[in-house]
Amino acid sequence: MRDISLHLMDIIQNSITANSNRIVTTISTDNEKDFLYISIKDNGKGMSKEFLENVIDPFTTSRTTRKVGLGIPLFKESAERAEGFLSIESELGKGTLVSVSYKISHIDRLPLGDIAQTFSQLVMASPEIEFELKMNNGSDSIQINTVEIQDTLGEVPITNFEVIEWINNYITESIKCIFGGVLDEILS
Ligand SMILES: Nc1ncnc2c1ncn2[C@@H]1O[C@H](COP(=O)(O)OP(=O)(O)OP(=O)(O)O)[C@@H](O)[C@H]1O
Ligand SMILES: [Mg+2]
Repeated sequence: MRDISLHLMDIIQNSITANSNRIVTTISTDNEKDFLYISIKDNGKGMSKEFLENVIDPFTTSRTTRKVGLGIPLFKESAERAEGFLSIESELGKGTLVSVSYKISHIDRLPLGDIAQTFSQLVMASPEIEFELKMNNGSDSIQINTVEIQDTLGEVPITNFEVIEWINNYITESIKCIFGGVLDEILS
Protein backbone atom coordinates (compact mmCIF):
# COMPACT_ATOMS: atom_id res chain seq x y z
CA MET A 1 0.00 0.00 0.00
CA ARG A 2 1.31 3.39 -0.87
CA ASP A 3 0.59 5.34 2.29
CA ILE A 4 -0.28 5.09 5.97
CA SER A 5 -3.82 6.41 5.55
CA LEU A 6 -4.73 3.34 3.48
CA HIS A 7 -3.36 0.97 6.13
CA LEU A 8 -5.25 2.98 8.72
CA MET A 9 -8.47 2.57 6.76
CA ASP A 10 -8.02 -1.20 6.78
CA ILE A 11 -7.25 -1.38 10.50
CA ILE A 12 -10.22 0.83 11.41
CA GLN A 13 -12.47 -1.30 9.17
CA ASN A 14 -11.36 -4.27 11.27
CA SER A 15 -12.47 -2.40 14.40
CA ILE A 16 -15.83 -1.60 12.83
CA THR A 17 -16.32 -5.23 11.80
CA ALA A 18 -15.54 -6.20 15.41
CA ASN A 19 -18.58 -4.15 16.52
CA SER A 20 -16.70 -1.29 18.13
CA ASN A 21 -18.63 1.88 18.81
CA ARG A 22 -15.64 3.93 19.91
CA ILE A 23 -12.40 4.00 17.92
CA VAL A 24 -9.51 6.24 18.92
CA THR A 25 -6.66 6.86 16.51
CA THR A 26 -3.49 8.58 17.64
CA ILE A 27 -0.75 9.87 15.39
CA SER A 28 2.30 11.18 17.19
CA THR A 29 5.95 11.93 16.58
CA ASP A 30 9.03 11.94 18.73
CA ASN A 31 11.43 14.18 16.89
CA GLU A 32 14.45 13.37 19.00
CA LYS A 33 13.98 9.66 18.52
CA ASP A 34 13.04 10.26 14.85
CA PHE A 35 9.96 8.08 15.28
CA LEU A 36 6.36 8.23 14.11
CA TYR A 37 3.78 6.35 16.15
CA ILE A 38 0.29 5.36 15.11
CA SER A 39 -2.21 3.62 17.34
CA ILE A 40 -5.78 2.46 16.89
CA LYS A 41 -7.74 1.54 20.00
CA ASP A 42 -11.23 0.08 19.85
CA ASN A 43 -13.81 -1.33 22.23
CA GLY A 44 -14.88 -4.16 19.95
CA LYS A 45 -15.09 -7.88 20.52
CA GLY A 46 -11.33 -8.42 20.79
CA MET A 47 -9.33 -11.53 19.96
CA SER A 48 -8.04 -14.49 21.91
CA LYS A 49 -4.29 -14.86 22.34
CA GLU A 50 -4.10 -17.82 19.98
CA PHE A 51 -6.12 -16.14 17.31
CA LEU A 52 -3.99 -13.03 17.59
CA GLU A 53 -0.79 -14.96 16.89
CA ASN A 54 -2.24 -16.22 13.64
CA VAL A 55 -3.43 -12.79 12.66
CA ILE A 56 -0.05 -11.14 13.15
CA ASP A 57 1.91 -13.82 11.33
CA PRO A 58 -0.45 -15.77 9.09
CA PHE A 59 2.30 -17.51 7.14
CA THR A 60 4.69 -18.55 9.87
CA THR A 61 2.33 -20.06 12.42
CA SER A 62 1.38 -23.70 12.14
CA ARG A 63 -2.02 -23.50 13.75
CA THR A 64 -4.98 -24.99 12.01
CA THR A 65 -7.11 -21.98 12.81
CA ARG A 66 -4.97 -19.91 10.45
CA LYS A 67 -6.74 -16.82 9.27
CA VAL A 68 -5.20 -15.42 6.16
CA GLY A 69 -6.23 -11.81 6.29
CA LEU A 70 -3.62 -9.42 5.01
CA GLY A 71 -4.50 -6.05 6.49
CA ILE A 72 -2.45 -6.48 9.65
CA PRO A 73 0.51 -8.38 8.12
CA LEU A 74 0.91 -5.76 5.39
CA PHE A 75 0.86 -2.90 7.90
CA LYS A 76 3.44 -4.79 9.97
CA GLU A 77 5.65 -5.34 6.96
CA SER A 78 5.52 -1.66 6.03
CA ALA A 79 6.59 -0.66 9.54
CA GLU A 80 9.42 -3.18 9.66
CA ARG A 81 10.73 -1.96 6.32
CA ALA A 82 11.28 1.41 8.01
CA GLU A 83 12.88 0.08 11.22
CA GLY A 84 9.54 0.18 12.99
CA PHE A 85 7.24 -2.33 14.64
CA LEU A 86 3.64 -3.39 14.84
CA SER A 87 2.20 -4.82 18.01
CA ILE A 88 -1.31 -5.73 19.09
CA GLU A 89 -2.87 -6.04 22.48
CA SER A 90 -6.31 -7.51 22.59
CA GLU A 91 -8.73 -8.87 25.13
CA LEU A 92 -11.85 -10.84 24.30
CA GLY A 93 -14.95 -8.81 25.00
CA LYS A 94 -12.97 -5.66 25.74
CA GLY A 95 -11.20 -4.41 22.67
CA THR A 96 -8.01 -4.14 20.73
CA LEU A 97 -5.05 -1.80 20.54
CA VAL A 98 -2.91 -1.81 17.40
CA SER A 99 0.36 0.13 17.69
CA VAL A 100 2.66 0.84 14.78
CA SER A 101 5.89 2.79 14.50
CA TYR A 102 8.15 4.01 11.72
CA LYS A 103 11.55 5.63 11.71
CA ILE A 104 10.61 9.02 10.27
CA SER A 105 13.71 9.65 8.17
CA HIS A 106 13.96 6.07 6.85
CA ILE A 107 13.94 6.01 3.06
CA ASP A 108 11.20 3.34 3.07
CA ARG A 109 8.94 5.12 5.56
CA LEU A 110 5.51 5.52 3.99
CA PRO A 111 4.05 9.02 3.80
CA LEU A 112 0.99 9.76 5.94
CA GLY A 113 -1.27 10.09 2.93
CA ASP A 114 -4.69 11.69 3.08
CA ILE A 115 -5.66 11.09 6.71
CA ALA A 116 -8.41 13.72 6.47
CA GLN A 117 -10.05 11.91 3.59
CA THR A 118 -9.81 8.54 5.35
CA PHE A 119 -11.34 9.92 8.52
CA SER A 120 -14.16 11.81 6.83
CA GLN A 121 -15.03 8.75 4.72
CA LEU A 122 -15.26 6.67 7.87
CA VAL A 123 -17.50 9.22 9.59
CA MET A 124 -19.75 9.39 6.56
CA ALA A 125 -20.05 5.59 6.31
CA SER A 126 -20.47 4.93 10.06
CA PRO A 127 -21.86 8.06 11.72
CA GLU A 128 -23.12 6.03 14.69
CA ILE A 129 -19.54 5.23 15.72
CA GLU A 130 -17.55 7.59 17.92
CA PHE A 131 -14.31 8.36 16.11
CA GLU A 132 -11.54 10.25 17.81
CA LEU A 133 -8.33 11.39 16.14
CA LYS A 134 -5.44 12.74 18.20
CA MET A 135 -2.39 14.33 16.64
CA ASN A 136 0.66 15.14 18.70
CA ASN A 137 4.23 16.25 17.90
CA GLY A 138 5.62 16.18 21.41
CA SER A 139 4.89 19.81 22.15
CA ASP A 140 1.54 20.54 20.52
CA SER A 141 -1.55 18.41 20.08
CA ILE A 142 -4.93 18.69 18.43
CA GLN A 143 -7.81 16.28 18.64
CA ILE A 144 -11.17 15.81 17.05
CA ASN A 145 -14.04 13.70 18.34
CA THR A 146 -17.22 12.99 16.39
CA VAL A 147 -19.50 12.76 19.44
CA GLU A 148 -18.39 16.22 20.52
CA ILE A 149 -18.98 17.53 17.01
CA GLN A 150 -22.44 15.95 16.89
CA ASP A 151 -23.31 17.51 20.27
CA THR A 152 -22.37 20.91 18.93
CA LEU A 153 -24.36 20.33 15.76
CA GLY A 154 -27.60 19.51 17.55
CA GLU A 155 -30.18 18.51 14.94
CA VAL A 156 -27.86 18.71 11.97
CA PRO A 157 -26.53 15.24 11.11
CA ILE A 158 -22.77 14.79 11.10
CA THR A 159 -23.10 13.26 7.64
CA ASN A 160 -24.28 16.61 6.26
CA PHE A 161 -22.08 17.42 3.28
CA GLU A 162 -20.84 20.71 4.67
CA VAL A 163 -20.04 19.17 8.03
CA ILE A 164 -18.03 16.40 6.39
CA GLU A 165 -16.19 18.99 4.35
CA TRP A 166 -15.50 21.01 7.50
CA ILE A 167 -14.13 17.90 9.25
CA ASN A 168 -11.97 17.17 6.23
CA ASN A 169 -10.54 20.70 6.18
CA TYR A 170 -10.08 20.80 9.93
CA ILE A 171 -8.00 17.61 9.90
CA THR A 172 -5.97 18.76 6.90
CA GLU A 173 -5.15 22.02 8.67
CA SER A 174 -4.44 20.25 11.97
CA ILE A 175 -2.00 17.88 10.29
CA LYS A 176 -0.21 20.82 8.69
CA CYS A 177 -0.08 22.57 12.03
CA ILE A 178 1.18 19.57 14.00
CA PHE A 179 3.35 17.74 11.46
CA GLY A 180 4.41 20.51 9.09
CA GLY A 181 8.20 20.66 9.22
CA VAL A 182 8.21 17.37 11.17
CA LEU A 183 7.21 14.99 8.40
CA ASP A 184 8.74 15.92 5.03
CA GLU A 185 5.59 15.23 3.07
CA ILE A 186 3.52 17.75 5.09
CA LEU A 187 4.06 21.29 3.89
CA SER A 188 3.48 23.79 6.66
N1 LIG B 1 -9.77 -4.73 15.97
C1 LIG B 1 -10.09 -6.03 15.86
N2 LIG B 1 -10.96 -6.60 16.72
C2 LIG B 1 -11.29 -7.91 16.63
N3 LIG B 1 -10.80 -8.74 15.68
C3 LIG B 1 -9.93 -8.23 14.80
C4 LIG B 1 -9.53 -6.86 14.83
N4 LIG B 1 -8.65 -6.65 13.83
C5 LIG B 1 -8.50 -7.81 13.20
N5 LIG B 1 -9.28 -8.77 13.76
C6 LIG B 1 -9.37 -10.17 13.33
O1 LIG B 1 -8.20 -10.48 12.64
C7 LIG B 1 -8.49 -10.91 11.31
C8 LIG B 1 -7.39 -10.48 10.38
O2 LIG B 1 -7.39 -9.08 10.16
P1 LIG B 1 -6.70 -8.53 8.85
O3 LIG B 1 -6.99 -7.08 8.72
O4 LIG B 1 -5.26 -8.92 8.85
O5 LIG B 1 -7.39 -9.33 7.70
P2 LIG B 1 -8.94 -9.28 7.26
O6 LIG B 1 -9.58 -8.03 7.76
O7 LIG B 1 -9.56 -10.57 7.63
O8 LIG B 1 -8.80 -9.24 5.70
P3 LIG B 1 -8.22 -8.03 4.83
O9 LIG B 1 -7.04 -8.62 4.12
O10 LIG B 1 -9.34 -7.65 3.95
O11 LIG B 1 -7.83 -6.93 5.78
C9 LIG B 1 -9.85 -10.32 11.03
O12 LIG B 1 -10.53 -11.10 10.07
C10 LIG B 1 -10.53 -10.39 12.38
O13 LIG B 1 -11.04 -11.68 12.62
MG1 LIG C 1 -8.63 -6.11 7.63
